[in-house]
Amino acid sequence: VDQLKGKDFLCLSDYSKEEILYLLDLAAKLKEEQKQGIPHPHLQGKTLGMIFDKASTRTRVSFEVGMYQLGGMAMFMSGRDLQIGRGEPISDTAQVLSRYIDGIMIRTFSDAMVKELAEYASIPIINGLTDLQHPCQVMADFQTIIEHKGKLEGLKLAYVGDGNNMTHSLMIGAAKVGMEVAVASPEGYQPDAGVTEMTRAFADETGVNVLVTTDPAEAVAEADIVYTDVWASMGQEAEQQERLQKFAGFEVNEALMRKARPDALFMHCLPAHRGEEVSADVIDGPRSVVFDQSENRLHAQKAILVAVMK
Ligand code: CP
Ligand code: NVA
Repeated sequence: VDQLKGKDFLCLSDYSKEEILYLLDLAAKLKEEQKQGIPHPHLQGKTLGMIFDKASTRTRVSFEVGMYQLGGMAMFMSGRDLQIGRGEPISDTAQVLSRYIDGIMIRTFSDAMVKELAEYASIPIINGLTDLQHPCQVMADFQTIIEHKGKLEGLKLAYVGDGNNMTHSLMIGAAKVGMEVAVASPEGYQPDAGVTEMTRAFADETGVNVLVTTDPAEAVAEADIVYTDVWASMGQEAEQQERLQKFAGFEVNEALMRKARPDALFMHCLPAHRGEEVSADVIDGPRSVVFDQSENRLHAQKAILVAVMK
């Protein structure tokens, strides 16, 4: 898949089903090689710049370790310390960084800012989370689902909670690969209308159902995967108390899990809040695959890095 070289990884909508499956295959191969101690220095001499305007544990560590395992290096840059923080234009920053490094992973607030960075940079830009989406997490999640269920197509993914960045990328990704998707969020916290429309368009192509509801039980019925995420995302800390009230009844607990298929997986991108969006017995229980998801951030992102930067 030579045509992925130089391509940005901004949104799963930019990738075909075949390209997504190709990346997942590559991720599985790289994971296997890593487990067997087989070196794979595909990015020797290459540097990934990592710009962070928000906190991170998994994204930062998995990208940095991933670049090291691929024979390259990663450079952490805090948005606060860059001249962007003092008003240097994104377009200039993009052109300057393109002269030094071979790719940029960015985690920030504005999705439009990431698009602008990509427009002016001559190197691939990878979206490491914005207010609107989190596509790298979905690649790790799909790798995890394949490991546990042997496939993606034909499964039903239910998402319960805030219609946030995670929800959006899951919806688009699921519709692309042919998974039925059902989202339950309280009134006022439903997924973005534009994303929902895009999801329905992709779902029409793959022939799967899309449901957006306010009823968690309806969404979870017969689901193969039950996914949730925090009720107050990074940047929404001030809304925490209000959200705790609005999201009452949306906790993923054993009672809700019983409405899904008996072999349903529980998934969460982490960090999690036990007793809020998920009960401790579910996230720490036998159906939870959250640490497989975390691990697969490393392998799935290595596949993206190799595909776009090699
Ligand atoms: N899931 C995820 O992106 O985690 P971090 O915020 O720790 O990077
Ligand atoms: N929705 C969460 C995801 C964190 C990985 C947030 O944006 O904070």
